[in-house]
Amino acid sequence: MKTAASYLRVIGFVLIAFLLLEFTTDEGAMATLNEYPVIWAVLVLLLLFAISVEIIVSALRNILFRSLDAEAQARYLEAEALEKEQQFSGIKKLYNKLAGGRPMEEEGEIILDHNYDGIKELDNSLPPWWVYLFYVTIIFAAVYLIRFEIFNDYDQAQEYEEAVAEAQLEIEEYKRNNPDIINASNVELLTAANDLAAGKAIFTANCVACHKADGGGGIGPNLTDEYWILGGGIKNVFTTLMEGGRPGKGMISWKEDLNPVEMAQVGSYVLSFQGTTPAEPKAPEGEIWVEEAASAEGETLEDAAVVTDSTVTDSTVTIIEEPIE
Ligand code: HEC
Repeated sequence: MKTAASYLRVIGFVLIAFLLLEFTTDEGAMATLNEYPVIWAVLVLLLLFAISVEIIVSALRNILFRSLDAEAQARYLEAEALEKEQQFSGIKKLYNKLAGGRPMEEEGEIILDHNYDGIKELDNSLPPWWVYLFYVTIIFAAVYLIRFEIFNDYDQAQEYEEAVAEAQLEIEEYKRNNPDIINASNVELLTAANDLAAGKAIFTANCVACHKADGGGGIGPNLTDEYWILGGGIKNVFTTLMEGGRPGKGMISWKEDLNPVEMAQVGSYVLSFQGTTPAEPKAPEGEIWVEEAASAEGETLEDAAVVTDSTVTDSTVTIIEEPIE
């Protein structure tokens, strides 16, 4: 005995299961399904399960129905018909109420007494659903006007900035949770105040014994000058922190103590010493470091960009010229 209700039960069951999965796993809206495609399989299984429960229940009902005597069967059918009639009666009533309109039999009362070639007009009032929606828009407009035009709650620029700030936090959080995404080849010089502050804290805790608080150098070399033993620039400094200095010199690898984010932070802090004058500078060691490799790379990148740009312009030009010719 298939009824609309049984379809609704199945759909509702799967929907509830989906929502539960979505909101109990803390992945943000709509992310769970992308994150764990296996959940699709779970949902399909649940769907099959719900359908089979419905089938079993209706089969049971059939068997029980057959076991009744004729009189009881008739009574049962009657009761069922009544139930069917009343099914969704609340929704049907609500629908009729919102749709408005007069039943066909009462049309005589609202017909207007003009007649254009047999076309007559009914003086129906507006459908209540439309009227209510209209009232809602009026209320919305009033609230909107007061909130945004009078009290200037927030504007689009503010909304944008908030969203960007939020995303920035998420990026930082992501980086913190996935420190290994930073390595010697993609590490970048950090300039944000909070990164440098974190770098300073790490430096104070681990490095001042050999490099001095102002980077002037002691057991370790001077970090404020442009002379580098192991190479300057964030990528080399990061590598130095990762691998340590030359054997026996005293600069250990910090791999075990610091994660890559922390190394990028303290490395950036070290590079912020560049050009400062420490109290007791140690004599320069190593060679002057110029960001040669980096700037050469930059040029090729720029060149490449120019090339792509000109090809783009060329192709646009041809596209424009062709139809003219
Ligand atoms: C035990 C002493 C000691 C500690 C602690 C120490 N360093 Fe060093 N550091 C050295 C020495 C010695 C060298 C030179 C290594 C070499 O010559 O190969 C060096 C080299 C370096 C260099 C490369 C300098 C260049 O000229 O190429 C950097 C950058 C550096 N250290 C940063 C740090 C940071 C950041 C910390 C803290 C996380 C730290 N060091 C902790 C002793 C130390």
